[in-house]
Amino acid sequence: MKKKIEVCFSPELLDLFDLEGKAVVVVDVLRATSCMVTGLAEGVKAIRPVMQVEECLQLMEKGYLGAGERGGVKIEAFDLGNSPFGYMEERCKGRKIAVTTTNGTLAIEKSRGAKVVLIGAFLNLKAVADFLKHLNLDAVIVCAGWKGRVNLEDSLFAGALAAQLEETFATSCDSVLMAKTLWRNAEGRLENVVGQSAHVERLKNIGIGEDLEFCTAVDRYHGVPVLEGKELVLADVRAGG
Ligand code: MLT
Repeated sequence: MKKKIEVCFSPELLDLFDLEGKAVVVVDVLRATSCMVTGLAEGVKAIRPVMQVEECLQLMEKGYLGAGERGGVKIEAFDLGNSPFGYMEERCKGRKIAVTTTNGTLAIEKSRGAKVVLIGAFLNLKAVADFLKHLNLDAVIVCAGWKGRVNLEDSLFAGALAAQLEETFATSCDSVLMAKTLWRNAEGRLENVVGQSAHVERLKNIGIGEDLEFCTAVDRYHGVPVLEGKELVLADVRAGG
């Protein structure tokens, strides 16, 4: 029998989903999960998502690099903000990073009840799809959104992932159909469509650099971050296949 897939468009809706025994894919395209996928692919040892700035500061005293933002803006005392380019810096290689962000780390925290928590972004779209196919668990794609509201870029990713899984997963969730329709309308011009989103407007005000172009690149990386205890590490692809 086919496994089932659902889409949760906002962490505020998570109470309506039963995550027990399922695989969750958390997505925050702009930019938390794009950073996580990039960092681990580029040599970061582990990433610890936390809810509060203070927790990050305490972990920095224990040797972690501190990363993250509020409202998109870097926390002054932290080593890194929330741009994937920061996670590629030489000083990150082999290090552990503690990160707190406005929506992405909250979505991860709220997904901890799942059997497996994976991190997705356009950057590792196919790798996540392949991993899910082999996990043989029902799956929920959890969009981080923006402060409880639905956003365009995470909904697009949900549609792109659901489209890759439509042969292997069944669904009775209208959110999956909605997300796939949205994705099909944007396919081939992703950067342009995401460029119209509210979060890109916000980021432009603080200097987005090349983050939009980078975060809308598809399948740049093959690694899939997975939550092991409190930390995200790259999944062993053999475990998924
Ligand atoms: C978040 O977690 O809300 C985001 O990643 C915000 C950002 O773009 O820095």
